[in-house]
Amino acid sequence: MTFSITSITWAAIALVATYGYQKWAAWRTRRALAITQGCQPPTKYPHKTFSGYDLVEERTAAVKDGRQMELYMKHFEMYGKTWEETYLDIKVINTMEMRNIRHVCATGFEDYGKSSRKLFAPFLGDGIFSQEGPKWKHSRNLIRPTFSRSELSDMDFISVHVDRFLDFIPRDGSTIELQRPLHSLFLDSSSEFLFGQSMNSQRDPEASDEFLQAFNIAMAGVGKRRTAGILSRILYAFDGSWKEAYAKVHAYVDIQVKRALEETSDEDQNNPANDERPTRYILLHEMAKQTRDPIDLRFQILNVFLPAREGMAILVGNAMFHLARNPKIWTQLRDESLGLGDRELNFETLKSLQLFKHVVHEALRLQGPSGRVQRIAKRNTILPVGGGPDGKAPVFVKNGTIVAINIWGLHHDKDIWGDDANDFKPERWVGKRPLWEFVPFIGGPRICPAQQQVLTQSIYLLVRLTRNFARIENRDTILGYVERVRMLTESRNGVQVALFP
Ligand code: HEM
Repeated sequence: MTFSITSITWAAIALVATYGYQKWAAWRTRRALAITQGCQPPTKYPHKTFSGYDLVEERTAAVKDGRQMELYMKHFEMYGKTWEETYLDIKVINTMEMRNIRHVCATGFEDYGKSSRKLFAPFLGDGIFSQEGPKWKHSRNLIRPTFSRSELSDMDFISVHVDRFLDFIPRDGSTIELQRPLHSLFLDSSSEFLFGQSMNSQRDPEASDEFLQAFNIAMAGVGKRRTAGILSRILYAFDGSWKEAYAKVHAYVDIQVKRALEETSDEDQNNPANDERPTRYILLHEMAKQTRDPIDLRFQILNVFLPAREGMAILVGNAMFHLARNPKIWTQLRDESLGLGDRELNFETLKSLQLFKHVVHEALRLQGPSGRVQRIAKRNTILPVGGGPDGKAPVFVKNGTIVAINIWGLHHDKDIWGDDANDFKPERWVGKRPLWEFVPFIGGPRICPAQQQVLTQSIYLLVRLTRNFARIENRDTILGYVERVRMLTESRNGVQVALFP
């Protein structure tokens, strides 16, 4: 008996010693990396509670008031362009520093992964938005041909939906809220582009209601779980509504997949001759040529639908929000669009419209729909700047730390954009070729593949609007931009205007 107790004691001591040694060795490796790179810690947020929940509460209040971006800017002013917070067991480094953003997205790409993959998992499955490594590359290759330039010039695709949208706008100077109809317009055009069948929500709003409601509940479920962090498994253990919602989304997408599989026969696969056909490109059809697995297709297409769903509507809505408050710019745009005469509105023509491009860039800069993108360090690594009292030293980033890239912060940085950084001034873009100081679609290998499509279609719609309407008037009593934060951020008060033919 004495012998066995002694053995257990020794075994326990050996275990503790091994664990301690491993921890010490890991700490030494980290310290060596930090020393050789000259790293210094960034400013730490002065949390009032041990869990870090005080900052979550402050952010929740700011979201409720529609001033989340303002709070981020306040914190950057107080703690520098890179600072650290903790929430439960997670360390988050917030940064609006251009060099850090470039590093995480491009030069140090291999060191960082997507942070919320597991949270999305049952809803979103495996696809371009959620995957990493070779699987992500495969998904990216799957969609690349569809986003190539020639397909983008096909404005016929969107024109029928734009016609319906224009018909909907009153011509007697009465007030219209544009954000909602813009959502319907782009939902219709993107569902046609992605699934091959438009949701036709402009004509029949109720037809898509059930699906959209389920989608929103599924997304809200992801958001709630993200906020709860490690507690989410306990807090939502018996929450069946999330599963019910995403099952409805899957059921809808499965119908689209079934149709796409029927419409693209097996012979289509791997037949290069078929690539020459002058057909309209439908993403699901292109995917179905490469994989016939319905579950794979469901998740691949859902992974594109998620980022595609609302961005363009919000972007054009934001541009209209600012144009209504700057009617002189509307007149200049109208001059430019009427000056085109009978020229076809194709990719080349739309690309040449400088003022339109500047307006869209300025709307993306001031209120880009995606303001904050998160990445997680996959190994011990560094950020090039943000450490030490002056924020100039590299920062050591421990494996598992989240780096929150603050695109809003970068786009409102007065050191880059000047003292009028918060004003809508499309003329600031004259002669400017933005690099990493302007990243509404982020950059590097995971750059938004739809960037060109978004810019071209937004300009196309603005051209059609300015051709149809001579004048715009703001009808919103609140002049400032109040945010509604969901997965993306849009104007809470919508876009209330009057348009005059
Ligand atoms: C104004 C409109 C849009 C903006 C500002 C925007 C912005 C972004 C950003 C910032 C990301 C990176 C997200 C992250 O990595 O966490 C992204 C990714 C992505 N976007 Fe967009 N997007 C827009 C519209 C679209 C549209 C219309 C589509 C599809 C038709 C699309 C498809 C994608 C896809 C598939 C990804 C994932 C790329 C990857 O991880 O490799 N986006 N987008």
